[in-house]
Amino acid sequence: MRRKLVVGNWKMHGSRPANAELLSALMAARPFALDVAVCVPAIYIHETAATLAGSDLRWGAQDVSQHAQGAYTGEISAAMLAEAGCRYAIVGHSERRAYHGETDQVVADKAQAALAKGVTPIVCVGETLAQRDAGETEAVVKRQLSVVIHQLAHCASEIVVAYEPVWAIGTGRTATPEQAQAVHAVLRAQLQAATGHGERMKILYGGSVKADNAATLFVQPDIDGGLIGGASLKAADFIAICRA
Ligand code: 13P
Repeated sequence: MRRKLVVGNWKMHGSRPANAELLSALMAARPFALDVAVCVPAIYIHETAATLAGSDLRWGAQDVSQHAQGAYTGEISAAMLAEAGCRYAIVGHSERRAYHGETDQVVADKAQAALAKGVTPIVCVGETLAQRDAGETEAVVKRQLSVVIHQLAHCASEIVVAYEPVWAIGTGRTATPEQAQAVHAVLRAQLQAATGHGERMKILYGGSVKADNAATLFVQPDIDGGLIGGASLKAADFIAICRA
């Protein structure tokens, strides 16, 4: 049985007082019956680590450099994330693909860099609305994932995958549980065929997950939890999702 995982992706939100309030509410709401993590803006990772250290809550980053070190101004390496106790790094979020030009290959390199330092990459895949309408959903997500699988070879089973349909992110328009499950099943079959470990790998759903729709999504056989944007910023909402 796969243990569920809920990860908050704060994106570029937060402030020291707001974070302190949110994290202390999460700490107070423990224990949860599933794994819970927050991926925070890099500048807040150390403070988050200090607050959550010693608890069963985990923390992570929203991106990682594909390079180990060097003259890459503004970048943060996987070694630095590992040093800060990060359990996870989101890679290939659609916002990074869209606004920072990250290609499938860059995403694969980032996943590899993270894994090399013991940080679990949460690899995001997902189609745009135009791609869905054109019937390309399966082909798009399989292509995105296949580059990562190919790059990681025998380590590919160590990743977490997040299916995030671009049209459902921040739009209030969630994929129906059936739509999400259908894509998750495709991804799991791909992971199983490539690694032999697809049955134990986690595939999260992300895109307008809220307290009132989380349960119907998470009950789907191939949905192992969620990657939560907007609703992860409000303690009551995020806690309700973690209890869904
Ligand atoms: P929302 O939950 O705000 O739609 O964001 C989803 C997301 O992009 C998580 O990574």
